[in-house]
Amino acid sequence: MKKLSLLMTLCVGVLLGAQVHAQKFEELGKTPQMGWNSWNTFACDINEKMIRDMADVMAANGMKEAGYEYINIDDCWHGERDAMGFIQPDKTHFPSGIKALADYVHSKGLKLGIYSDAGGKTCGGRPGSRGHEYQDAVTYASWGIDYVKYDWCDTKGINAEQAYITMRDAIKKAGRPMLFSICEWGDNKPWDWAKDVGHSWRTTGDIYPCWNCEHNHGSWSSWGVLPILDKQAGLRKFAGPGHWNDMDMMEVGNGMSEGEDRAHFSLWAIMASPLIAGNDLRSMSETTRKIMTNKDMIAINQDKLGIQAMKWIDEGELEIYVKPLENGEFAVLFLNRADNAKHVKHDWAFHYMKDDIFKKEIYFDKQVFNWKNVWTGEKDDTKGKLSVTIPAHDVLVLRLTPKK
Ligand code: GLA
Repeated sequence: MKKLSLLMTLCVGVLLGAQVHAQKFEELGKTPQMGWNSWNTFACDINEKMIRDMADVMAANGMKEAGYEYINIDDCWHGERDAMGFIQPDKTHFPSGIKALADYVHSKGLKLGIYSDAGGKTCGGRPGSRGHEYQDAVTYASWGIDYVKYDWCDTKGINAEQAYITMRDAIKKAGRPMLFSICEWGDNKPWDWAKDVGHSWRTTGDIYPCWNCEHNHGSWSSWGVLPILDKQAGLRKFAGPGHWNDMDMMEVGNGMSEGEDRAHFSLWAIMASPLIAGNDLRSMSETTRKIMTNKDMIAINQDKLGIQAMKWIDEGELEIYVKPLENGEFAVLFLNRADNAKHVKHDWAFHYMKDDIFKKEIYFDKQVFNWKNVWTGEKDDTKGKLSVTIPAHDVLVLRLTPKK
C-alpha cells in the first residue's frame, strides 16, 4: 500500500515535471554545509548502530553546538531493488530501515544524508540511480532524508550536466528539501554549470590523509591536503551562498600531525568548503575535537558573504590567503607548506590587498585593523610588523576587524 502511494506520487511528479521547470531547493546551503560522512574511515563497513552512535556523539560533544548538522551515510547502505524497482537498504546492516534511522537522527536535532550514483552502479558496486532517479528521490523523501550525495561511477559516457539536472529535478519534485551534493570529482568542470543544479560540487578526486602526497590506486589517485588546495586555483569566482567548491570530506583526526590537521581544517574553512568530518567521532582525541569545533575558525567558514579565500601572497613555501568577511572584516591565513619551521616578518603597511573578483581592497597603510589569532586567542593590531614563527606544515590564522 505504501509502495502504491509512492508510485502514485511518482507518476504525478513525473507528469507535473513535464510542465513545471524544476529548480534546486534554493534555501539550502546558504553557508557551507557541516556534518559527518562515513566514507573516509569506514568505507563499506557501515551499519545502522554505528550511524546512530555518530548522531549521539555529534549531539553531545559540542559539534552540534558548533554548527555540525548532517550525518551522512556514504556508499554501501544499499540492498537490491524490489520487484517494483524501489531501492531497499541492506537488510543485514540496516535491519530497521532508513526511515527509522532518519527518525532517530532527527530526534537528536540532526539531519540525515544518503548517497547514490548517477550511473548503473555506485563506486562500491551497489545499485546506482540511473533510470530510477524519480523513484529514488521519492523514496528518500518518504524516508525523511535531508541530503543527497550523488556520485559518478559507471556513468558510461552520459552527459554530466544532464544527469545531475535529472536528479535535481527529481529531488525538487519529490518535494522534501534535500541538499544536493554533486560528486563527479571536477571531471566535467561542474563550476561552469552546477550553480543552479547542486549546492556544492567536488572539485577533485578523493582526499587521502597526508600533507603533500599523491596516493596512486592504479587507474586513479587520491590526494593530500596541499594537492587539493592547489587544485582550487581559478575556482573561487564560481563559489557563493548556495553553491560551493567542495574540497572533499575532511581527514582531520585520521593520522596526520596536530599542525597538519589544524592547517587542513583552517584551509577548508577559509576556502568556504563544506566542513564534513570523516573521522570516527566516537574515539577521537580531545585535540581533534578542539580543532573541529574551533568556533572562530567555523565563523570564518560560515560567514554570510560566502566569499572563498584568495591566495594573496605567494612566496613559494609561504602563502598568505585572505577571505573577505561581513562588516569589513577579513580572515588572513599564513600557510607554511615547508618541512621546516619558517620565521615570518610581515610588514602590514607595506602590503596592499586587492580582490578584483569580489571588489574588496585594503590599504594597510591607511586603515588599521585589530586582529585576533583564531588558534591562540592572542590579540594585536596591524600598525606594527607581524613577527612570528610558523611550525612546519602549519598555519597562522588571524581575524581582522577595522579599528574605529
Ligand atoms: C567516490 C567518491 C567518494 C566515496 C566513494 C564511495 O570515490 O568520490 O567520496 O563516496 O566513491 O564508493
